[in-house]
Amino acid sequence: MGRTSPGPLSLYIHIPFCKKRCAYCDFNTYAGAEHLIDDFTTALVKEINFVGKTSPKQELATIFFGGGTPSLLSIQQFEVIFDAIRSNFSIAPYAEISLEANPGTTDESYFLGLIKVGFNRISFGVQSSDPVMLKFLDRIHDFQAVVDSHQNARKAGFENINLDLIFGIPGQTMQVWQSTLADCLALHPEHISAYALGIEEGTPLDKWYSKGLIPEIDQDLAADQFTYAIETLKTLGYDHYEISNWCKPNLQCQHNLSYWRNGNYLAFGPGAHGHYDGLRYENVKSIPAYIKSLMKEDLKEFPYPCTPSVLNFKPNTPEEELEDSIMCGLRLVREGLNILELEKQFEIDFQSIYRTQIDKLQKNGLLNFDNNVLRLSNQGILLGNQVFLEFINEL
Ligand SMILES: C[S@@+](CC[C@H](N)C(=O)[O-])C[C@H]1O[C@@H](n2cnc3c(N)ncnc32)[C@H](O)[C@@H]1O
Ligand code: SF4
Repeated sequence: MGRTSPGPLSLYIHIPFCKKRCAYCDFNTYAGAEHLIDDFTTALVKEINFVGKTSPKQELATIFFGGGTPSLLSIQQFEVIFDAIRSNFSIAPYAEISLEANPGTTDESYFLGLIKVGFNRISFGVQSSDPVMLKFLDRIHDFQAVVDSHQNARKAGFENINLDLIFGIPGQTMQVWQSTLADCLALHPEHISAYALGIEEGTPLDKWYSKGLIPEIDQDLAADQFTYAIETLKTLGYDHYEISNWCKPNLQCQHNLSYWRNGNYLAFGPGAHGHYDGLRYENVKSIPAYIKSLMKEDLKEFPYPCTPSVLNFKPNTPEEELEDSIMCGLRLVREGLNILELEKQFEIDFQSIYRTQIDKLQKNGLLNFDNNVLRLSNQGILLGNQVFLEFINEL
């Protein structure tokens, strides 16, 4: 078993700074570290140059600045980073170039600057429109800041905007969730991401939860909130293309599609994860350690596209690549998993390997199988993890 090289190339840049940490978040990000942004930018440029000089110029189909709070960087800092990207890669004329932004950290002139630099998509972390929920989640902004930021981005010319939302928050009634969806939809975003609140280990939320300081999450209510979002967004013409993602026609997040199609993506910045021709790698998490690692002049030999900032790298076996392709591909609820494509890519007989699992999941009403494409059923979308588990460790 092997895998033919997956399609176009994407690039992820992790910006690990936040004004304040939200109670639920376990992303690799630090509050009160803004004094490191200049040195971080210099290190990031070195990392990009290092990867660029070890291969011929490749074309990028997507670039995604995620965080953390990428909107804490100045336009001048983005200019420096984009100069490095352009001198080492070519950016496809159609490329999607996204920035995650926190409401309340930006004004119209900033968005104009972003457009000039090359961005064409903004993703706002909104979470809720309810002041009590926003306070509970430790957010630094109110919903008015979302409305203002959204308006500023529109005025500057952004025509592709995502809003991130969270449901299943303790104390969030169905009515509160319905109002949040309605308030956000009134802004006519092109894209919505809605996630069930996860209690991540080591977060303040986790501590409150284990000490019994906050009510249990009502899982039935969370499932009803998810179902409400699915039905409401469908009525309004949003395409439910991934378990947690909806878009106006043809406006899927191309960058995230490359993850779900188990494609190739380069990763830069502290704690960033990359995947290139079956090699998975992860950068060192701490900002000072990241900066220090890239100050070295005696660069050792690393497999492409790893640099001295890499903490771990591992070539996946074809079996691991296949499992990743299944787990990610099944998340694409409309596109689904094309068995013929997988059989061609991995040179396997998919149906004979997974016949038992497919039959069982179909019988339980969690999976549909039509025209060689496997898709989660409506029930399967609610119970995705149960489906994914069936496909692990079968090889
Ligand atoms: C990488 S975060 C960055 C977004 C941006 N910094 C912000 O908060 O405005 C992307 C999204 O992940 C979601 N998220 C983060 N932690 C989560 C959790 N524990 N449970 C559910 N969703 C979470 C939030 O919706 C968040 O907007
Ligand atoms: S949710 Fe966003 S703003 Fe909050 S800590 Fe995480 S990355 Fe930072």
